[in-house]
Amino acid sequence: MSAPVDKERSLIDAALAVREHAAAIYSGFKVGAALLDSTGRTWTGCNVESSSYGLSCCAERTALFKAISEGVRDFETIAVVAGGNGVATPCGACRQVLHDYAPKLKIMLHNPDTNESRSMPLSELLPHAFSEANLKGTGR
Ligand code: THU
Repeated sequence: MSAPVDKERSLIDAALAVREHAAAIYSGFKVGAALLDSTGRTWTGCNVESSSYGLSCCAERTALFKAISEGVRDFETIAVVAGGNGVATPCGACRQVLHDYAPKLKIMLHNPDTNESRSMPLSELLPHAFSEANLKGTGR
């Protein structure tokens, strides 16, 4: 049974390919993400930086927003690739937004410089998450 491994490898490959488009013009830290939806389609995104640094968008949210804006709402796995030391995990903002739309998401991380990889559920990265459920009962 090599199919799941092939699927995971191709998701990493898609993240590596889109990372080439990263507009990391200030940080130089290029990130690529590839998000697999429940129909098997892959949505890719890279980080896009702004001269007003805080307006920059991470690769994970770029991929997620692309998919959502095309009407996709069910996701299975996201692959995130970045260099530097160790394997970069999604930032806090991305963890929250990913949780809002895909609380059961599987996260695959890969560093092509060191060839390190790690996988974990999003729930491990964002335990006790704030969510839509907390908004209920506010009278709004
Ligand atoms: N970045 C991502 O794209 N994803 C992350 O999970 C962490 C950080 C980007 C944001 C910024 O463009 C650069 O990496 C350095 O922080």
